[in-house]
Amino acid sequence: MLVSAKEMLQKAKEGKYAVGQFNINNLEWTKAILQTAQELNSPVILGVSEGAGKYMAGYKTIVGMVNGMIEGLGITVPVALHLDHGSYEGCLKCVEAGFSSIMFDGSHYPIEENVEKTRELVKICEEKGMSLEAEVGSIGGEEDGVVGAGECADPMECKQVADLGVTMLAAGIGNIHGKYPANWKGLSFETLEAISEQTKDMPLVLHGGTGIPADMIKKAISLGVAKINVNTECQLAFAEATRKYIEAGKDLEGKGFDPRKLLAPGVEAIKETVKEKMELFGSVNKA
Ligand code: 13P
Repeated sequence: MLVSAKEMLQKAKEGKYAVGQFNINNLEWTKAILQTAQELNSPVILGVSEGAGKYMAGYKTIVGMVNGMIEGLGITVPVALHLDHGSYEGCLKCVEAGFSSIMFDGSHYPIEENVEKTRELVKICEEKGMSLEAEVGSIGGEEDGVVGAGECADPMECKQVADLGVTMLAAGIGNIHGKYPANWKGLSFETLEAISEQTKDMPLVLHGGTGIPADMIKKAISLGVAKINVNTECQLAFAEATRKYIEAGKDLEGKGFDPRKLLAPGVEAIKETVKEKMELFGSVNKA
């Protein structure tokens, strides 16, 4: 059964570790992440962007697939199915479809509008027993080849949104999605510290987990981060393993073209990446 992310994140915040959100793209992705979480006895959050939602034929398809897999694979660790960077409308669709958690990304709105919309969603999520992630200060990333710098959130705005009763809060601290450029200045721990002071027990979310050095991840966790999002790193690992398989001509040997064989090295690579992250985040044996 899917669960809200509330309990797992409160435990993580108290125990000074972080739960990984791993974004899913298809059946192989989902299965690899769930099996690794089970193997390591770790709680896990499956992230679905609106684009990935469309790609997988809609939110209902995803809910059906994930619920079926939890049963079919005998998954007993806590699993939250979470909308990543949702619009207001996308959030409502996921509530309706049976997700157990949503993120409303109102960071591009003026703060008053972000607060208003977040407030409405807090009410809906409370009624449904779902968790809600809000965002303050946009997270940079690559768009059309241009890498935008990560913003730093205003700690007082973070407090304002945290006080609405959201479950977890994503705040920009110089982090960006995708690969970090060579001249990246690193995470702003000064900002993170100031946000933590204002938001106290609120589990903080670190987006753009791909490519952040281990020491910075550990420091971020010590300063209140309890959820870390990883997407690109699994994609890179999958692509590299698949490339190697094809370049070695394995698809041309015997039944090597069978998708169950062709995609297997990529699946193993995702598992390895997820395992590495869960160990680094400290969520192993915390189910
Ligand atoms: P990366 O793709 O940089 O790992 O970021 C993932 C993320 O933050 C999803 O919201």
